[in-house]
Amino acid sequence: MKGKKANILVGICGGIAAYKICQVIRILVKDDYSVKVMMTPAASEFIQPLVFKELTKNPVYLDMFSYSAENTPHIKLSDWADLVMVAPLSANTLSKITCGICDNLLTAVICAFDPKNPVLFVPSMNEKMWNNPVIKKNLSRLNKIKNYIIFEPKAGGLACGAKGVGRMPEPEEIYQKIEAII
Ligand SMILES: Cc1cc2nc3c(=O)[nH]c(=O)nc-3n(C[C@H](O)[C@H](O)[C@H](O)COP(=O)(O)O)c2cc1C
Repeated sequence: MKGKKANILVGICGGIAAYKICQVIRILVKDDYSVKVMMTPAASEFIQPLVFKELTKNPVYLDMFSYSAENTPHIKLSDWADLVMVAPLSANTLSKITCGICDNLLTAVICAFDPKNPVLFVPSMNEKMWNNPVIKKNLSRLNKIKNYIIFEPKAGGLACGAKGVGRMPEPEEIYQKIEAII
């Protein structure tokens, strides 16, 4: 991989931990990585795309079918990225990726991404969702894919107010993980 100034594509799902990604992106941009952000429709319910446009100085990618966007944005974005990180990875998107579903820009990019390059998944959810046997099964299927790296959630206070396993690692830890992969 290219080391510093690699292209990092950050995919954001509809999870309460989406707010933590602002800090991760700030650290990456300060460290001279090129960062682009794509969001699921649910993610933009949690945080305004404008925040990421300002932090990355790049457009934010939301829609596969926008006429103002580039042609085949899922292919262009997957070709651009050296590493894709999906954080927070929701239970919903985790399960869709496991089945090869590509019904939005984020899932289509994952499907089109070169399997020689790494994908870092950072799941985060309420402990009840995390312990759901279907989610556990889907996660173990993702774990078997060679270029997929799962950064598992921690135990502690969850942003929804509950306590348990499901908490997303802190921004600095996510940054360290990316550095270790690249
Ligand atoms: C307030 C709130 C917080 C949520 N937090 C999470 C979460 O942390 N993790 C998760 O997997 N789903 C969470 N959900 C559910 C997802 O937003 C929902 O499953 C959504 O369809 C995910 O869409 P996406 O995978 O396309 O982003 C939350 C929903 C609400 C309303």
